[in-house]
Amino acid sequence: MNKIVLISGASSGIGLETAKYLSKLNYTVIGLSRSYPKVSYDFDYVLCDITDESAIKKTIEVIYDKYKKIDVLINSAGMGISGAIENTPLDEVKKIFNVNVYGQFLLTKHALVLIRNSSNGKIINISSIASEIALPFQGFYSMSKASIDAFTKALRIELKPFNIQVMALLPGDIKTDFTKNRTKPFKVDNDLYGERVQRSINKMELDEANGMAPIKIAKTIHKYIKRKNLPITKTVGLSYKLIRFLNKFLPEKIVLFFVRKLYG
Ligand SMILES: NC(=O)c1ccc[n+]([C@@H]2O[C@H](COP(=O)([O-])OP(=O)(O)OC[C@H]3O[C@@H](n4cnc5c(N)ncnc54)[C@H](OP(=O)(O)O)[C@@H]3O)[C@@H](O)[C@H]2O)c1
Repeated sequence: MNKIVLISGASSGIGLETAKYLSKLNYTVIGLSRSYPKVSYDFDYVLCDITDESAIKKTIEVIYDKYKKIDVLINSAGMGISGAIENTPLDEVKKIFNVNVYGQFLLTKHALVLIRNSSNGKIINISSIASEIALPFQGFYSMSKASIDAFTKALRIELKPFNIQVMALLPGDIKTDFTKNRTKPFKVDNDLYGERVQRSINKMELDEANGMAPIKIAKTIHKYIKRKNLPITKTVGLSYKLIRFLNKFLPEKIVLFFVRKLYG
């Protein structure tokens, strides 16, 4: 029987590209998001908002009835937010944590019942290099992805006796609708950060527009699906590997200096 792969965020970007790629390679793919892909696709699809626990439970029942198990869960659903921390309303912070952290937790929690039915279950969480390198004016995005890295590591240890492996993939800039979908900075009177925020966002958006094609992430995910042993965290592309290496070995003050020069 083909491996059964559940992919959240499959209507767009990394999730969609991965779903199409794996489906072409004869994996049984189930895509999941709040809306259907806007392009033609040849895999199964369930509409589900990952912030809604009852919708997730129903989705898992539907998958159980049809497939009985999940071999690989790819948590790709996510959103971005930009703006100064001081100017961000709590409701907007809750929104991003509801999707990127609590939603990912809820889908994983309920999917685990079916992942246990696989002989070699795998969970691949799409984090971001921004989890390790905190970005100014995207602070809450970095916080949410840092949570996913911690979630990944704790879960990996908890699930080891069940032969379920967990990893986080930390992409850099990828050219997807993520840029367009990012919640934009909030206009406030007497904004002290105005120009700095705009400059920073412009740079981010330009980097993303010139970023890697999502197919590269899809191919990397496939490489890890085939691997016997999953790494804990990985990025994609030489330049991002170098950034992670420097971030690890340079003094933090130096790292923050460069981040400030680029995005601050
Ligand atoms: N693009 C980048 O530069 C980049 C870099 C590093 C990491 N990432 C991460 O990669 C992942 C995928 O991003 P992307 O670039 O592919 O962005 P994208 O094109 O905007 O796709 C986001 C996906 O998440 C789904 N989604 C959002 N909220 C949801 C919810 N409440 N319930 C279910 N699905 C939801 C969206 O579908 P619906 O709107 O139809 O629900 C969509 O399919 C994200 O976790 C992102 O943080 C992206």
